[in-house]
Amino acid sequence: MDIAASTRPPDWLADFPAIPQGWAYLDSAATAQKPQAVIDAITRGYAETYATVHRGVYQRSAEMTVAFEASRQRVARFIGARSAEEIVFVRGATEGINLVAQSWLKPGDRVLLSTLEHHSNIVPWQLAGAQIDVVPLTADHRIDLDAMAAMIRPDHKLVALAHVSNVLGSVLDAKRAAGIAHSVGAKLLLDGCQAVPRMKVDIGGLDCDFYVFSGHKLYGPTGIGVLWARADILDSMPPWQGGGAMIDTVTFERTTFLAPPARFEAGTPHVVGVIGLHAAIDYVDTIGLDAIASHEEALVGETRDALSGLNSVRLFGPEDSAGIVSFAVEGVHPHDIGTILDESRVAIRAGHHCAQPLMAALGVDATARASFGVYNAKQDVEALVRGIERVTRIFG
Ligand SMILES: Cc1ncc(COP(=O)(O)O)c(C=O)c1O
Repeated sequence: MDIAASTRPPDWLADFPAIPQGWAYLDSAATAQKPQAVIDAITRGYAETYATVHRGVYQRSAEMTVAFEASRQRVARFIGARSAEEIVFVRGATEGINLVAQSWLKPGDRVLLSTLEHHSNIVPWQLAGAQIDVVPLTADHRIDLDAMAAMIRPDHKLVALAHVSNVLGSVLDAKRAAGIAHSVGAKLLLDGCQAVPRMKVDIGGLDCDFYVFSGHKLYGPTGIGVLWARADILDSMPPWQGGGAMIDTVTFERTTFLAPPARFEAGTPHVVGVIGLHAAIDYVDTIGLDAIASHEEALVGETRDALSGLNSVRLFGPEDSAGIVSFAVEGVHPHDIGTILDESRVAIRAGHHCAQPLMAALGVDATARASFGVYNAKQDVEALVRGIERVTRIFG
């Protein structure tokens, strides 16, 4: 383990004004803190350049429209999409998946999910009336792709999987999953919420058909996210919400709709959220996702090494988990772990992490979870480990 690699580069933490000295923020998988560059972009968006987009005939609105569409181009470039027309702005990953479930899926269609999915990648399919099959996990808590290959059937219309698990940090071999899905003509949707902030994502290389993520986990604003789908798939999908900005002509008898992505963006969009997302992507790209990935890899390695040395700690997830470490302390409820750690100014998440079926498969009600971002360093891992040692002392 390269300890030096996780020594905090001073400028990264300094970019985050909401992280005070001595506070170990280890809940980036829930939501990432915001760098000053994103805060400034949002402030400018409201304080200097604000106007609505796509409709205004005046200069300010035209300029805001240019900035809004530049963000769409930026997102496309960031994930390697062929064109900006394949980028649909949504409120977040949850809304992106609901959009696919409501517009593309038909009631009764069969979908294949995995045991480790977030509720956002389970409940929308249930609401859409899908028949659901579930791929189990391997002993080291990855999605079992051998089992998936054995389970997949020609009537599976869609496979929907987390690219990175929000509880276990397990990274999917997306290319192999795509091959298995496509072997029966099924499409592959990847939930990229936890992948996009911590590894380079190239849509073309992954060979998936749909990809979703949320801006707020990528150091951007809340309330903005992305659904990417191949242009031919988006073209084939009917609108899922009706209103302004998505129509061509409206009469009381008949309405015609715009082409994607506008077809799926009814109503006034989160204009400044889109601008903030652009700034977040610029910020992440300035550091570089390879640098972020190796930074988090070192932190995960240090955390797992230290926690595995404590007798009462049980670690979940594979050794090479991406940026996320879930654990339990024998005889202590994760909420108590979280509360005691908070007294030492260490912020972790404790609970079911919106993955109750996974908790059931792991045989627990909840786990404690530490998750990392660019602002974390070795000192945060040390604070976490000291806190866990205190937990074990308190609970004997
Ligand atoms: C893997 C995964 N999928 C989906 C979501 C839902 O994201 P959002 O609440 O931003 O829509 C999350 C958020 O925790 C997540 O971690």
